Amino acid sequence: MPFTANRQFKSAPRLLQSAKGMYYTDVDGRQVLDGTAGLWCCNLGHGREEISHAVAKQIGEMDYAPSFQMGHPLPFEFANRLAKHLPGDMRHVFFTNSGSESVDTALKMALAYHRLRGDGARQRLIGREKGYHGVGFGGISVGGIVHNRKYFGSLLTGVDHLRHTLLPENAFSQGLPKNGTELADDLERLITLHDASTIAAVIVEPISGSAGVILPPEGYLKRLREICDAHGILLIFDEVITGFGRIGEPFAAQRFDVLPDIITAAKGLTNGAIPMGAVFVRPPIHDAFMQGGEAGIELFHGYTYSGHPVACAAGIAALDIYERENLFTRARELESYWQQRLHSLREQPHVVDIRDFGLIGAVQLAPRDGKPGQRAYQVFTEMFRRGAMVRVTGDTIAMSPPLIIERAQIDELIGRLAEVLAATP
Ligand SMILES: Cc1ncc(COP(=O)(O)O)c(C=O)c1O
Repeated sequence: MPFTANRQFKSAPRLLQSAKGMYYTDVDGRQVLDGTAGLWCCNLGHGREEISHAVAKQIGEMDYAPSFQMGHPLPFEFANRLAKHLPGDMRHVFFTNSGSESVDTALKMALAYHRLRGDGARQRLIGREKGYHGVGFGGISVGGIVHNRKYFGSLLTGVDHLRHTLLPENAFSQGLPKNGTELADDLERLITLHDASTIAAVIVEPISGSAGVILPPEGYLKRLREICDAHGILLIFDEVITGFGRIGEPFAAQRFDVLPDIITAAKGLTNGAIPMGAVFVRPPIHDAFMQGGEAGIELFHGYTYSGHPVACAAGIAALDIYERENLFTRARELESYWQQRLHSLREQPHVVDIRDFGLIGAVQLAPRDGKPGQRAYQVFTEMFRRGAMVRVTGDTIAMSPPLIIERAQIDELIGRLAEVLAATP
C-alpha cells in the first residue's frame, strides 16, 4: 500500500466500503465523517450522481480514444470550460492523470520553454524545503520531504531549494502568518549563488499540505513573483490541493492575487472520481512552443490517457456542480467559523500550533518522548475508531473537509478531535 505502514495495517485495517455526501461507511457498517475530502480531492462530497451518470454514459458511448495525433471533443470542451475559471490571462490546458504527472509535465515545459527561446542554459529548477510535488523523479527532486527523497538515489541534478516558511514565531496565527515575508528573498540568495541565467523555474505550493499545512507569510508569494520577474525565471504554483475552491477561489493564485506562469492541478478536477490532472499555462509559454513548422510536434510529451474521455466526462460533470452550487467560493463563507472552531482546540493537551486558511486546518502536536509522529498517529487512528477521518503527517493532524460541509458537521469534527486530544497521553 502507498505511503502506509503495511505491517501495522494488516493487524488493524481501516477499510472503507461506500460513501455519500460528507460520510464514508466502513466495512463494518460504521459511518465515518470525512474531514479530509478523501485525500484532498472529493471537494463536492461523495456519491455525486451527476458524475457517476456522466462516467457510465461516456464508457457506453466511447471508452477510449488515442491521445496522440488523434482526439475527441471532450478535452477541448473541458479545457474551454476550465479556462473561464483560470487566473489572469492563463488559458491553455494540458491534461495528465495525476498531480505527480502534472508536476513533471510543468517542469519539462519550463525547461523546453527556455530552450525554444534560445535560452537553453536555464536548466536549474528551484523547489522548497518541505515541499511536496508528488512522487515522480521531477517531483521528488524539487520536493523537500526527506523520506520521499533519501531512498531514491541522486535525483535530478541542478536542483536547489528555498527555505521553508514554517516559523515558530508564527505559532497559533489565524489565517496567514505575519512573520517571514523576507524568506522569499532566499530566492535572491540562490540567484546570487547560481546566476539567474542558469535558472529555469521556481515551483512552490501556495500552501503546502503534505508536510503538515505550511502557510505563506503575508506578501511572500507576491515577493517571489517580483523576484522571478526581475530575473526571467518562471513561477510555477503547484495547486494540486489548493485548486478547485479549497481556499475560497477556484485557485490560490486568485485568492493571493499572484499570477504564476504555470499551474499544476489534479484531485478536485474530477472530484477524485476518475484519476486526472492538468497543467495550465499563460500565452507566452504556449506561444513559445508554436513557432516551428506547422507539421512538427510542438511538445514531445504526453500520456496514453491524456484527456481520457471518461475522465473528461467526470471533470465536466464536476465543473457543472462547482458552478451551480457556487462551491469555488464556499470556503470563504465558512472560513471564519472554521477558524474559530479550530482555534478552540488551543488549550487541549500537547497542542503546539494551529494553522488555518480557507477550508484547510492543521493541529500540530508535540512529539511523545521525543519520537516524532507517534502521538499524532494515535490521534488519527482513534479519530477513525470514533467515526471521523483526519489526516496525519508527522506531528500534524491535517483537515480539509469537502466544501459542502455544514456548520454542524464542523462542530462534529472539531468536537470529536477535542475529545480525542483530551484523552490522548
Ligand atoms: C501539492 C501536491 N502536488 C502533487 C501531488 C501529487 O498528486 P498525485 O498523488 O495525484 O500524483 C500532491 C498530492 O497530494 C500534492 O499535494
